[in-house]
Amino acid sequence: MRGSFVLSLFSLALGASAVISKSKLTTYVDVLALDNTFNPVKEAYWTGYPHHRRTPFAVSPDGKSAYVAYLDSSETDVHVQELNPKTFKATGTTVTVSGGKEAGGLVAHNDGFAILVNEAMPSDTTNAPPSDTPVAVLYRYTSGKQTWKTWLGGPGVHDSEGRAASPDMNGDLVYSEDAGLYGAYFVVTDYSGDASGHYGDSIEYVSENGTLVTIEGASSSWGCSHNTGIAFEAADAAPFTSICAEDQGAIWLNTKTQGMTNDGVKISNENTTNGASGEPMGGMSGSYSALARFAETSRYIFAWVSRGAIDVTENTWMGDGYTNVQNRTNGRNVAFSLFSDKYTKVGAQATSKVGAGDGDSQVNWVTSGSNDCSNAHAATFGPVNALVTWEEISDPICDYIAMGCRGQFAGTYFQQINKKGELVGDSFKSTDVYVAGDMVTFDEGLAAARICWPYVSMDWDLSQAVGYGGSTTTTKKLSFACLTR
Ligand SMILES: *[C@@H]1O[C@H](CO)[C@@H](O)[C@H](O)[C@H]1NC(C)=O
Ligand SMILES: *[C@@H]1O[C@H](CO)[C@@H](O)[C@H](O)[C@H]1NC(C)=O
Ligand SMILES: *[C@@H]1O[C@H](CO)[C@@H](O)[C@H](O)[C@H]1NC(C)=O
Repeated sequence: MRGSFVLSLFSLALGASAVISKSKLTTYVDVLALDNTFNPVKEAYWTGYPHHRRTPFAVSPDGKSAYVAYLDSSETDVHVQELNPKTFKATGTTVTVSGGKEAGGLVAHNDGFAILVNEAMPSDTTNAPPSDTPVAVLYRYTSGKQTWKTWLGGPGVHDSEGRAASPDMNGDLVYSEDAGLYGAYFVVTDYSGDASGHYGDSIEYVSENGTLVTIEGASSSWGCSHNTGIAFEAADAAPFTSICAEDQGAIWLNTKTQGMTNDGVKISNENTTNGASGEPMGGMSGSYSALARFAETSRYIFAWVSRGAIDVTENTWMGDGYTNVQNRTNGRNVAFSLFSDKYTKVGAQATSKVGAGDGDSQVNWVTSGSNDCSNAHAATFGPVNALVTWEEISDPICDYIAMGCRGQFAGTYFQQINKKGELVGDSFKSTDVYVAGDMVTFDEGLAAARICWPYVSMDWDLSQAVGYGGSTTTTKKLSFACLTR
């Protein structure tokens, strides 16, 4: 996600040689006082291992206002706090989206914000999902007041293909001023139609006045099966740039297909087991800031974590042209991919050649060690340079195939990568800064583009599952970190 970026020749000239380093990482510890308590730890699907609970963060195009969203520690009500983008201190009053069960994406405007959450439909709703299962919904607030609210699933939204609920809000919200559209890409489970009882994903577009618009070749009622990873970024027109990780063995750039068919672009082969593929985009509470556009260009960078791929075999369930692989490594490493535009990967696609020994020769690796890497994110400084970040644990124990791992937290790492795909300088690490919300590019004019994100200052224990009943950690303070070049 990017804020405004004014390109100047001066910034280009100065920017060419600058390299990130630990001395350019600034922290604002416990700077933002919250009106309500927040639980920063979310239990991962299947493993129960701790993940950072996402706090969506966005800055307005004029750079004057910023917002951060967080789920109340009671697990109902999403709060949106306005903050000063220079000091990160709270300003204005908290807006509460009553009934929100998870904060799934935030867009800041000069006059307010739009937020994607999931919530139960009113009890008198005909054809609502059973058992008050939450449904994805987009809200627009102007000057602190709700302007409109648009359901993105449930009755009245692609009824004939099957109605969708979203028990977990895994996905993202983006906005294109050029297109005049919001786009939301999120995990769904259908409760009517052919896909009833199955998990998949949906892409929905909403116009600036809150009207849900169905766009041929862009909107999608059900795309990637058992989606556990989404990366989504705005483009100048629909379809927006989309990536999914599915349960059959691939990560697809599916801007063209919105699905998992092989007329999309296969970014990666991943071993899949029990519907999972190694939480490539962060798993539960992930799926943000994994895909970023280089400012003023059509280019994108995507970062994920992967166990690599060997022994390519035919996927007999999907049929000819689709494959399964075994994982090459125990822990996950950080990978990235570049796209020259929203449909086109730079370099070869992942192989679909049955019998191939190497299924990952197309991957650009950022790391290659035996530590397990997770929570990978990408952001861009401007048209030329990007930042990729991830966490590592040493001596990882990976109890479950194709899921996350546990072990000693070894730090949050930062690596600069340029538009040619070259690693610029060495990575550095911090052991007390984490990435737990959207990484936003701030334009400070001249060469001072910086990338900032929210986190909670706390001990980060990745050595064990959260435990029965979930995490009881709560906080009333958020911290921010910024990195300049
Ligand atoms: C809202 O926007 C849509 C799509 O741009 C347009 O077709 C519709 O007429 C607008 N509705 C109103 C009430 O302005
Ligand atoms: C994934 O890898 C495991 C071994 O780690 C293997 O048992 C399983 O068959 C693989 N999945 C697929 C779909 O090939
Ligand atoms: C594949 O990954 C699983 C964990 O998902 C691990 O137990 C297994 O050892 C890995 N296989 C190889 C060849 O490293």
